[in-house]
Amino acid sequence: MNPDHILEVDDIQVTFRTLDGLVCGVDGVSFDLRAGETLGVVGESGCGKSVTAHSIMRLLPKRTAKISQGAIRFRRRNGDVVDMTKVDPEGSLIRAIRGNEIAMIFQEPMTSLSPLHTIGDQIIEAITLHQNVGAKEAEDRAVEMLEAVRIGNAREFIRSYPHQYSGGMRQRAMIAMALSCNPSVLIADEPTTALDVTIQAQILDLMNRLQDEFESAIIMITHNLGVINEMADRIAVMYLGKIVEVADRRTLFKRPAHPYTVGLMQSVPEMGHQERKRLHPIPGMIPDPFNIPQGCSFHPRCPVAKPTCSSPGDVPLIEVEPGHFVRCTLYSDGVPAHD
Ligand SMILES: Nc1ncnc2c1ncn2[C@@H]1O[C@H](COP(=O)(O)OP(=O)(O)OP(=O)(O)O)[C@@H](O)[C@H]1O
Ligand SMILES: [Mg+2]
Repeated sequence: MNPDHILEVDDIQVTFRTLDGLVCGVDGVSFDLRAGETLGVVGESGCGKSVTAHSIMRLLPKRTAKISQGAIRFRRRNGDVVDMTKVDPEGSLIRAIRGNEIAMIFQEPMTSLSPLHTIGDQIIEAITLHQNVGAKEAEDRAVEMLEAVRIGNAREFIRSYPHQYSGGMRQRAMIAMALSCNPSVLIADEPTTALDVTIQAQILDLMNRLQDEFESAIIMITHNLGVINEMADRIAVMYLGKIVEVADRRTLFKRPAHPYTVGLMQSVPEMGHQERKRLHPIPGMIPDPFNIPQGCSFHPRCPVAKPTCSSPGDVPLIEVEPGHFVRCTLYSDGVPAHD
């Protein structure tokens, strides 16, 4: 494992058993995460963002899903490297890692906050489960974390139940809980889509500031390029279970190379500018997962597709400039990216 990396996702494939047969949720996804960096993962609904996240956390449905190929190497605090695909999803190792060394924030806070317990009890439980501290110390730490996410009057807040607060406050509480054990990787799966635009901006700003303080690496999953632009150092663009482009943020926004990325940029409004900018949705429908087009799976919707784009076989990911990778026949046929 590269010493600069905290996580390496290496060519994973995830299959689901359904009533209609096998479906591939992600197919050959690879990316690295450096300690402390923010990687944005962006793509339309169904492209495999959550399946990728759930594979890392081993939260895939037990009976129907299978990581059928690849490895997910994670460097633990003690220096050990663990292949997450080999970890027993119900064993003691995953319980030591999940919620502690790798934490997750979900789109809807109520999926991870229990309505039956106070917010304080839930954060305190997360702390005492993973850290060797007494009740009083855990409570102090919970209060400190709620203050870090800018919740005023935190001593009182910890005695309240999730439903007593707004979506934005609950999302802050979930961020506090996720960061309370100082994870080396934080996965945020659409953490702001359920919130209105002003609150979204506040939460993103908060996450940016907390990252400086806690130095966690973040995987920020979203379908909104505006959110990614606020947060990410590097961006991976996914389409139909594959990564089709990876680059650092500036390069991707300046020189998007994949026709899908170009389309995505034209279709997503910038944050806070929803009403002013006209949207140009990418034409065509996302194909159904049982009928993935052969060759480049984007070719039926691609404005610059050539006849060879539908030839059978995988299109390779090509490095078009240092650190900028694209999966498109425009480049794999030997045409230079930028001249
Ligand atoms: N429980 C499941 N059973 C069968 N197939 C599934 C299941 N979960 C995911 N899939 C398959 O995996 C694909 C990727 O799903 P995933 O949830 O990762 O999409 P996503 O990118 O997170 O989308 P969204 O933006 O809507 O959250 C789906 O299109 C579907 O084909
Ligand atoms: Mg999802």
